[in-house]
Amino acid sequence: MNLIAVSSHQPVTAEDGCQDPVLLNDWHVVGYSTDFVAGTVYPVRLLERELIVWRSADGQVHVWEDLCIHRGARLSKGWISNDAVVCPYHGWNYDSSGACTLMPAAPDEPPMKKAKAFPYGAVERYGFVWTCLGQPETDIPVFPEWVDEAFMKVHSGPYVYAANGFRAVENFIDASHFPFVHAGLNGVMDKPDRLEPYTVEEVDTGLRSSEVRVFQPWGDARGMPLVAFYTYHTFRPLVGYFSKRTQDADAQGQVVNDHSDTFTTLFTVQPVDAVNCIVRICAAMNVSPRPDPALVSSRADVVYGQDRGIVESQRPQRIPADLRYELHHRTDLMGQRYRSWLRNKGIRYGVI
Ligand code: FES
Ligand code: FE
Repeated sequence: MNLIAVSSHQPVTAEDGCQDPVLLNDWHVVGYSTDFVAGTVYPVRLLERELIVWRSADGQVHVWEDLCIHRGARLSKGWISNDAVVCPYHGWNYDSSGACTLMPAAPDEPPMKKAKAFPYGAVERYGFVWTCLGQPETDIPVFPEWVDEAFMKVHSGPYVYAANGFRAVENFIDASHFPFVHAGLNGVMDKPDRLEPYTVEEVDTGLRSSEVRVFQPWGDARGMPLVAFYTYHTFRPLVGYFSKRTQDADAQGQVVNDHSDTFTTLFTVQPVDAVNCIVRICAAMNVSPRPDPALVSSRADVVYGQDRGIVESQRPQRIPADLRYELHHRTDLMGQRYRSWLRNKGIRYGVI
């Protein structure tokens, strides 16, 4: 079975980097849609593979191996001309289908059939560009609030972590760090929340927790105290999500208004390699009044910056998917189940 390339031919670099079929056959975010404008070739790195992203004049985004089949030069050092990628070495032109349309040293000869780029699956969804280096086994996860106009959407990041992507996801689905890592925002260090027992189940869309209740003195961009009920979800090994139902509270954590608003976050991780990743998020909220998007984003910058400092410090860098390593308390059930879920999927890359 050909697990590497969507196209029928493979780059010679396909044996470099990650060979884990679970990750190669999954969709990964490599940027925001707004990162890529027509007329420029952008280099990106995913699972130790060098790629280019470019947008053709029809608006379609393309993700290719950063490699020219002729002599192996990097297409990311080339440019766009007449809606084609031009290799910087001998000037071969590749159109948006990946076919070579011009060899300048023999302009009157039709290029050989094998003269093609190495394209991968490329889809824009939720304001992100997603790619799959293999044969996708599932669709891109559903972000439930994306199509609901009652929810305002705010993208934040990118947050570059010198850390393992699975460690970053596990941090995102962990509620007991709030009073310490996010003191004064998502928790109170002098009065940490007692976490009541919760459950985690495996559903069609991944792993999902029941609600986890916490008090947040500065619970969102509105700067108000909130009682928050988190439902955590891991859609994919490197795509997390939470839905946070909130109630207005006083400074002591007593609910003063029990109407429920909802604040959700899609958390995407680009695994650059086993110990480096890029986090990009999209929040969706139906809170009223609507907060200033700039405040939502700047609050996310603070929170994810705090998380980054901790996640980068964790050792070993690769997450132990084997539960014999590290300790698992009942309050860590979501993280514990996440590790077992990775292990059961057969993931070998980026885990120990
Ligand atoms: Fe790309 Fe020769 S290496 S045109
Ligand atoms: Fe955090």
